[in-house]
Amino acid sequence: MKLFDVYSIFDIEIVKALGSKLWDNKGNEYLDLYGGHAVISVGHSHPDYIKAINGQLQNIGFYSNSIKIGLQEELADKLGEMSGYHDYQLFLCNSGAEANENAFKLASFYNGRKKIIAFTSAFHGRTSLAVAATDNPSICAPVNQNEHVVFLPFNDFESFEKEINEEVSAVILEGIQGVGGVHIPSPEFLKHIESLCAKFGVCLILDEVQSGYGRTGKFFAHQYAGITPHLITVAKGMGNGFPLAGVLIHPLFKARKEMLGTTFGGNYLACAAGTAVLDIIKKENLIQNAVEMGDYLKSRLSGLSAIKEVRGQGLMLGIDMHEPCVEIRKKLLFKYRIFTGASSDKNTMRILPSLAVKSDEIDLFIDALTASLIT
Ligand SMILES: Cc1ncc(COP(=O)(O)O)c(C=O)c1O
Repeated sequence: MKLFDVYSIFDIEIVKALGSKLWDNKGNEYLDLYGGHAVISVGHSHPDYIKAINGQLQNIGFYSNSIKIGLQEELADKLGEMSGYHDYQLFLCNSGAEANENAFKLASFYNGRKKIIAFTSAFHGRTSLAVAATDNPSICAPVNQNEHVVFLPFNDFESFEKEINEEVSAVILEGIQGVGGVHIPSPEFLKHIESLCAKFGVCLILDEVQSGYGRTGKFFAHQYAGITPHLITVAKGMGNGFPLAGVLIHPLFKARKEMLGTTFGGNYLACAAGTAVLDIIKKENLIQNAVEMGDYLKSRLSGLSAIKEVRGQGLMLGIDMHEPCVEIRKKLLFKYRIFTGASSDKNTMRILPSLAVKSDEIDLFIDALTASLIT
């Protein structure tokens, strides 16, 4: 059987990883500044993470959500404490798209409405409603096109005021837009959205799948604006590579048996991985490291004239060039062995390293980028 050929892949086979380093099957070493789409939060193959998953597997790896799984409560307590959302409830699932799908359902169950407001350049996943709220028609099949979803220009107060009313079920936006090219919603815009959502009984969903888990220097990017969403979706860095996602749910929402569900969500291994991630973030002060290394990277980039702008916060950065960055990224990968990320804005390269990245690794990148720009 052949694989269904949907990914543009590099001809590199990575077989080993540690921290921010990767090795291919020929023994070549790479620097990972992308973490496989912002997934690697605490670093590859962290010993505490390995120990937690291995240890759990010795006892039990899986049983369904028809029994009590104490590890889920442990994960929820730790997440509540570290994110500041102690009084929220947690629904565990497996991917960012699934988290958003469940957030839309919760909003609609809550207010009985159907309409969704999303924004230009948004990415929320590839399943039914998540892809309908993603601003990319090429990945939205006819069956996913949804007349209830409208897209508004990002950071535009006027169009938002015109569109929001008592018919809207939910407004969804990313803490910082990732795939779209690292665009930050202004704090004023977020506050305005929050207040109009409250006025019209609309649920505010913050998609922190990419921008969450300390990546931006706060646990969630929206915390820079001091807003309180009704629903917050998480995935990617939550499991550091183990499929794990969740929806943080405002106490106003009351659970009803069977209203949501999943077979794999919140299984023992996923919870062991997720709890280890939070413990490592806390023990190694990785959110502070994201602030410091993000500032350091920004300051080193500021000297390079080929760069038009650096957008983002902490370790979620978009390097906007004067021209398409595809050739530079190829050079970084094949000549200097550094992984970076693309975005739907062809001039913008995404840098999404582990939150434990070190300054000498950033120096390596700056040297390689400088050399790539002149040769
Ligand atoms: C902001 C955001 N939301 C949702 C998703 C979808 O996550 P997943 O691929 O885990 O379904 C992504 C994936 O890139 C994302 O960046």
